[in-house]
Amino acid sequence: MLSAVWLFSVLPGYGALAQAVACSGSPSRLHIPDQQYDNYFLSDCHSSAHVVVTNPLAAANPAQAVARLLVAWPAGNSGAAAFFSPENGTASTLGLHLENSTSSGEALDPVYEPAQGNGNPRVGVAGQVHFDSPAVLTLSILGSIRNIRDYTEGGGVLNNDIQNAIQATKYGNSGATVSRMWFDNTTTTWLDFAPSDASDPVQIVPGGGARLRFGNGTYSFRASFNYPQLQQLSPEQVLNNASQGLVAQNQDQTTSLSFLSYKEKLLAGTWRFLTYFGRDTLITALLMQPVLSEGQGGAMEAVISAALERINQTDGTVCHEEVIGDFATLTNLENGVASNAPSCDYKMIDTDYYLPIVMKNYFVDSDTGRRRASDFLATKASFLPGNAGLTYLELAQRTAEKIMRLAAPFAAPGGQTVDNLMHLNPGVPVGEWRDSNNGLGGGRIPFDVNTALMPAALRAIAALSRAGFFSTHPDWKDAADRYAQVWEDETLQFFRVSLTQADARNLLNDYVSSGAFAGPSNAANITRDGVVFYGLALRGDTTTTTSNQPNQPDANIIRAMHTDDSFRHFLLNTTDQAQLSAFLSQTADHILAPFPAGLATSVGLVVANPAYYGADPAAALWTTSDYHGTVVWSWPQAMMAAGLGRQLGRGTSSGKGKGDDDHGEEEPAFCRDKPLREKVRAAYHRLWDLIEANAAQSSEEMWTWRWDPQSGFVAVPFSDVSSTESDVRQLWSLAFLAVRREDL
Ligand SMILES: *[C@@H]1O[C@H](CO)[C@@H](O)[C@H](O)[C@H]1NC(C)=O
Ligand SMILES: *[C@@H]1O[C@H](CO)[C@@H](O)[C@H](O)[C@H]1NC(C)=O
Ligand SMILES: *[C@@H]1O[C@H](CO)[C@@H](O)[C@H](O)[C@H]1NC(C)=O
Ligand SMILES: *[C@@H]1O[C@H](CO)[C@@H](O)[C@H](O)[C@H]1NC(C)=O
Ligand SMILES: *[C@@H]1O[C@H](CO)[C@@H](O)[C@H](O)[C@H]1NC(C)=O
Ligand SMILES: *[C@@H]1O[C@H](CO)[C@@H](O)[C@H](O)[C@H]1NC(C)=O
Ligand SMILES: *[C@@H]1O[C@H](CO)[C@@H](O)[C@H](O)[C@H]1NC(C)=O
Ligand SMILES: *[C@@H]1O[C@H](CO)[C@@H](O)[C@H](O)[C@H]1NC(C)=O
Repeated sequence: MLSAVWLFSVLPGYGALAQAVACSGSPSRLHIPDQQYDNYFLSDCHSSAHVVVTNPLAAANPAQAVARLLVAWPAGNSGAAAFFSPENGTASTLGLHLENSTSSGEALDPVYEPAQGNGNPRVGVAGQVHFDSPAVLTLSILGSIRNIRDYTEGGGVLNNDIQNAIQATKYGNSGATVSRMWFDNTTTTWLDFAPSDASDPVQIVPGGGARLRFGNGTYSFRASFNYPQLQQLSPEQVLNNASQGLVAQNQDQTTSLSFLSYKEKLLAGTWRFLTYFGRDTLITALLMQPVLSEGQGGAMEAVISAALERINQTDGTVCHEEVIGDFATLTNLENGVASNAPSCDYKMIDTDYYLPIVMKNYFVDSDTGRRRASDFLATKASFLPGNAGLTYLELAQRTAEKIMRLAAPFAAPGGQTVDNLMHLNPGVPVGEWRDSNNGLGGGRIPFDVNTALMPAALRAIAALSRAGFFSTHPDWKDAADRYAQVWEDETLQFFRVSLTQADARNLLNDYVSSGAFAGPSNAANITRDGVVFYGLALRGDTTTTTSNQPNQPDANIIRAMHTDDSFRHFLLNTTDQAQLSAFLSQTADHILAPFPAGLATSVGLVVANPAYYGADPAAALWTTSDYHGTVVWSWPQAMMAAGLGRQLGRGTSSGKGKGDDDHGEEEPAFCRDKPLREKVRAAYHRLWDLIEANAAQSSEEMWTWRWDPQSGFVAVPFSDVSSTESDVRQLWSLAFLAVRREDL
């Protein structure tokens, strides 16, 4: 008896399960209206939820919008989506919105009912939805966000087993519920509706399909489920002590960061990517370490442990995306196994490299990390059944072994060939952050992985080895650095595109006259020196023929200009001075030059610019309506700003004395080249001007633009041009909490 009381008092999670205790603080709330998407966030000590109401009447293009009430829950990457049509008239004419509760005055209130049945409490959100005209709930998808995304992004794909299991039942006197038992046979998702005020009773529409009929007016709803919850990190817990002031200064961003941060893992974004993604969380840790909490239970360890837990122990590959919750059970059943065990997607090739870099930055460079290393790395993995019993150190070593093995052939004497560069996995069209099918324009050897991530990971492995890690591989202390030197110095050349002034001008004029861009070509901005940049990828596929452009330097190069230079600037202090000066110079040129001559638009840097590709059909793969096209993403601008800041910082000599990993650095040559240094500084501050001018959307995943003859570039939500909704809050887009303009 006594011990049980003690247990409950020290483990708030269990105390909460045992009785319907009210949470001590008031719930945290955030409201973000975004065109037709009205976003509400709610978190309390029991659970957290993101509710998105889609109101077609607020859409730029109502014909494409569908009235929808969507709830996304971090636990199990779970969700409930309800699609509505007006009883009469076309879908786009149904207006709906949330009303504030007459009792709490809030749009959303938490739902909490103590455990019954499966031992988990029932948690969720309650609110009031108003329909402007009589409406029918025509479709609900209850269970996993993955199945909701299959429907919204997969051209309307529905799983019959899920849809057939949805039941419509009476709720109270005049309400109705749609609910579904998950594939685990124990969890249920419920959506309850009941009339408020004088609106019609909710009717179950005869004929099946779990359809409900509503009158015009206001209805209370409750969305809930009974699944084990995660332990959220509050804004105060996710930030380190020195950064507590951000909570008051940046309430939106710190509440968003907290919504995506849990002791078990950080989540990539919401509502579409509300789960572990290796690349997203590791890049976030790289950019945001200066403000994130360290030590046991802190954000840095949540990121690192989540990645280690999910490693494929056989080959050391770091997990890209986890498969959990109802979707995990479904996936297992499809493979003939009745199991709820989570699993992982390992198709990406870039994620492995981020892990040792983040580990080095924490366990070697941070006092807290150094102190925590031995305890943390002795932790036994418990998330994936296949990794049970392995320590975090053993798992980290598998990844390092993989990287060392992959690095060796290119680093060997005479080994610097295209064949020895890192390729996407066979048969997989994607492999790094530009992971839409056309993101790399058909390239199979990505620039970021080969010129930056591989050498940076090797430097990190060398530093970790020198700090006592990986003691069964004593040779790595030197070998990893030796490999890194080759990867740093010998990879850029494969991607180099050099155009004469005349060719560059012609290509820009062709791009504009082809109708790809309605604004000026800025061809006159091209100087006598022409244009140099490094292509986005190499085809690496000798069977592909390209149209033979005049003066095409190398048909193998995907000749799109891009922002991935930032990886080298941010992750490497390269030492080939001529190469570094030239590389910095061309990055600065592209930031200073207006699109399509360069990357700069007034709404930010485009992540890809195919203007110099010429008539190759591949150039048409990057447009303003492509996810990785001539569009603006937030985090690459943060990484570019942080990277240029680091390079400029190398010249101030204040960066010295940080252990053995700055190679006892001398001032790089570009620092003494005054015009070059000034150009890089100008690019740095130009970029910051763009970032600051676009602060309103910088916490979003990405955005696009249209050209207006009067006002030029106008930022436009991506969902206006694509059926893909971009996430309203994305973890790595919160990087500007940590990355700030410096006085350089
Ligand atoms: C909508 O159509 C139904 C069936 O045609 C009809 O009974 C109902 O009165 C109409 N409702 C409105 C609001 O016009
Ligand atoms: C709900 O209340 C907030 C202020 O608390 C107010 O800004 C908002 O307009 C209200 N919403 C509705 C639909 O009345
Ligand atoms: C759930 O129950 C069904 C029917 O009894 C069974 O076929 C299925 O394997 C069960 N699912 C799991 C995950 O055990
Ligand atoms: C429904 O709409 C009618 C016509 O606009 C209005 O008179 C009535 O009050 C509305 N009912 C509710 C419950 O809002
Ligand atoms: C942060 O603040 C807490 C509470 O004031 C304190 O216990 C802790 O030692 C501090 N951590 C660091 C790393 O300074
Ligand atoms: C883990 O790696 C091994 C070796 O490459 C591979 O055979 C296996 O399929 C991978 N596991 C998963 C779950 O992808
Ligand atoms: C580019 O050219 C335009 C005129 O075409 C000019 O207004 C602009 O200042 C130039 N920009 C740069 C960076 O040279
Ligand atoms: C590169 O040098 C800068 C300035 O000295 C430093 O801040 C940064 O940590 C170094 N980066 C690496 C990867 O060593």
